[in-house]
Amino acid sequence: MTRIALVTGGSRGIGSAISKELKSLGYQVAATYAGNDEKAAAFSEETGIPTYKWDVSDYEASKAGLAQVEADLGPIDIVVANAGITRDAPFHKMTPQHWQEVIDTNLTGVFNTVHPVWPGMRDRGFGRIIVISSINGQKGQFGQANYASTKAGDLGLIKTLAQEGARKGITANAICPGYIATEMVMAVPEKVRDSIIAQIPAGRLGEPEEVARCVSFLASDDSGFINGSTLSANGAQFFV
Ligand code: CAA
Repeated sequence: MTRIALVTGGSRGIGSAISKELKSLGYQVAATYAGNDEKAAAFSEETGIPTYKWDVSDYEASKAGLAQVEADLGPIDIVVANAGITRDAPFHKMTPQHWQEVIDTNLTGVFNTVHPVWPGMRDRGFGRIIVISSINGQKGQFGQANYASTKAGDLGLIKTLAQEGARKGITANAICPGYIATEMVMAVPEKVRDSIIAQIPAGRLGEPEEVARCVSFLASDDSGFINGSTLSANGAQFFV
């Protein structure tokens, strides 16, 4: 049976590596994106993975988009909630807008992606929810009160979904990547980035593929007893 996987923010950065990894393992994959039509079209052209455009912070748009994916491909078995943004600023400079945009996309966006497909997973007795959290949800980060709050929120969410889904064959787990070589990390000022890399015992940024392999492990039919857990991939930068 071909399992169907949905990856939000799945055409760029870590999400793109996840989409490609799952496809290479035989899953049927759909990737969502929020804005960049050109990059999404190039991604579909290169990979053969269909892309769908909606804003994960909008519940009705998410519900309609997910219904379209299911009409095109079939019931979604695996959700990888990966879409996320940063609006970094020290707390004294953080505006309510900085706060709200990150909460809406990174945390409410996970609710909006999982909630519409949850009843179908319960009915079918199978589901895999994988949320891409962050090292900064585990340890906090100067300049990321908003982002760290959402990533910590992910951990409460998956622990709850794990308890509610376990009897229905649904697992919910989080991955906490450390600093990975993506546009998001490259947007951090070079001096700050260099000081962060100096704190990573591995002496380097992670690769998106290293996170993607964590996802394929948790997505597997064989991973049914791993539920409510957090898998860190951070080059030994932080231990819980
Ligand atoms: N720890 C302690 N002090 C720090 C600091 C830090 N990490 N960073 C800056 N400061 C200090 C500065 O030295 C400065 O001190 P003085 O006023 O005494 O000179 C003070 O804080 C204010 O600094 P700035 O005026 O430079 O502040 P700013 O308004 O320019 O904002 C910032 C700085 C945007 C928060 C910047 O520090 C930054 O980008 N930090 C990185 C945040 C980060 O790690 N983001 C991760 C992005 S990647 C990601 O999110 C993916 C993932 O999951 C890992």
